[in-house]
Amino acid sequence: MLDALKDELLSLVNAAADLPALDEVRVNALGKKGRITGFMKELGGLSPDERKERGQALNALKDEIAAALDARKLDLAAAHMKARLEAERVDVTLPVRPETEGRIHPISQTMDEMIAIFAEMGFSVAEGPDVEDDFHNFTALNFPVGHPARDMHDTFYLPDADDKKMLLRTHTSPVQVRTMLNNKPPIRIVAPGRTYRSDYDMTHTPMFHQIEGLVIDEATNMGHLKGCLVEFCRAFFDVDDLPLRFRPSFFPFTEPSAEVDIGCLRKGGELKLGNYGDWLEILGCGMVHPNVLEACGIDSTKYQGFAFGMGVERVAMLKYGIPDLRTFFEADLRWLKHYGFVPLDIPNIAHGLTR
Ligand code: DAH
Repeated sequence: MLDALKDELLSLVNAAADLPALDEVRVNALGKKGRITGFMKELGGLSPDERKERGQALNALKDEIAAALDARKLDLAAAHMKARLEAERVDVTLPVRPETEGRIHPISQTMDEMIAIFAEMGFSVAEGPDVEDDFHNFTALNFPVGHPARDMHDTFYLPDADDKKMLLRTHTSPVQVRTMLNNKPPIRIVAPGRTYRSDYDMTHTPMFHQIEGLVIDEATNMGHLKGCLVEFCRAFFDVDDLPLRFRPSFFPFTEPSAEVDIGCLRKGGELKLGNYGDWLEILGCGMVHPNVLEACGIDSTKYQGFAFGMGVERVAMLKYGIPDLRTFFEADLRWLKHYGFVPLDIPNIAHGLTR
């Protein structure tokens, strides 16, 4: 009778088509309520001699079935692996996929490059809304009401909201205010984004981009500002000895203020970066005015710092030889194919910003 059971169980083991089916066979034979286990339970009712003989036979059967289960398990696992390898086979000799057609806009690429450099220097990225109120865009930045510097910004005003004068931000500097209001020093952020002014000609578009920088700490000084911007420009333009000139200037929110020019050569419509005696302005900067710190809840007797703001289009044009500002926003596919970047060339200091 045990021989019949053995034959039956062995054929079930061999018929199990996969691991779950095999496990079911195991449970039915050797599990708590399994058939062999059932016979084992009956041993107690037998005479000692019968029990010994029957017990040995059952143990032998149990061992044999367990061995068959193990062997079948190995076979099934191997078959499973083989099927997977077969199914997931990759033909490495196939030609590579065609390059993607889409391109990254030079503005996005340039901002990503800038962020990559500043991130390496320990800056984080901050953001603010395009629709701002008068307080963040002007008042907190030490533009008193009626100050002439407000008029220079060609502001797009929007209908008031909650008694607040609303506008499209004219620069990224309001992100300085938001950052200082919401964070305690030390602060080290850059804020790239869109800005708006009511102006349109060869060198101005009503929407353009800036990147703002802000560093606030107890001993941050003008030397840090210079070092930071010199390092940035040399990395960004990939010119090791690029000369920078810091020229005194005026902004309500910085004191002292400076504009930064980079060395270049203008010859016959061509522009070369380097120490050639010509200069081109690329950004404004300075030490954050104590009035600004105080308006943002920072103790100006304890903290100080620097800020800068740079036009993204301006430096993108310089770096990539794009002659006309307005083409950035014409959405001309031919232009984008020419000046755009392959999506997988993600800017990274380690492998070069643009390969
Ligand atoms: N917000 C200024 C502008 O748009 C640029 C600027 C100048 C930003 C000096 C700064 C700064 O942070 O320190 O004209």
